[in-house]
Amino acid sequence: MERTLVLLKPDAVQRRLVGRIISRFEEKGLKIVGLKMIRISRELAEKHYAEHREKPFYSELVSFITSAPVVAMVVEGPRAVEVVRKMMGKTNPLEAEPGTIRGDYGLSVTMNLIHGSDSPASAAREIALFFQEDELLHYQTSDSAWLGG
Ligand code: RTP
Ligand code: MG
Repeated sequence: MERTLVLLKPDAVQRRLVGRIISRFEEKGLKIVGLKMIRISRELAEKHYAEHREKPFYSELVSFITSAPVVAMVVEGPRAVEVVRKMMGKTNPLEAEPGTIRGDYGLSVTMNLIHGSDSPASAAREIALFFQEDELLHYQTSDSAWLGG
């Protein structure tokens, strides 16, 4: 089953939206297989956002993501990467559709609440940055037969 890395960014934690955002993934039927609260170090932020190193917003992005705790999670389900990205909405919350996380809760492109891996290859790289193998749990939920996929 496909996995993706989700980060609930510092603004989501500070604004006490963590429970509501996690509920959306649970209600969708996705399975949480790893979950922790951490303060991202500058070193980890630079690895995670390496692809954006040359972008004008890079230093602001690294400062923001290291500014306060985040919730890191690994979410599993059919086409989890794409499903989570759809639920997040467009990068800029001003353009994100209502009904998406960014569309419902955000106004700022930097403080846009949530990160989700953008491809299965990115997901594999990012999950390995944030989680040890033994922090990812293998279990079945009792409703799995009723979720398909
Ligand atoms: P993410 O990586 O956080 O899931 O978001 P994304 O794929 O939708 O957006 P991406 O292009 O990967 O950009 C990473 C994060 O950088 C910030 N950003 N700021 N000021 C700007 O123009 C700008 N553009 C992007 C956002 O926080 C974005 O989520
Ligand atoms: Mg991205």
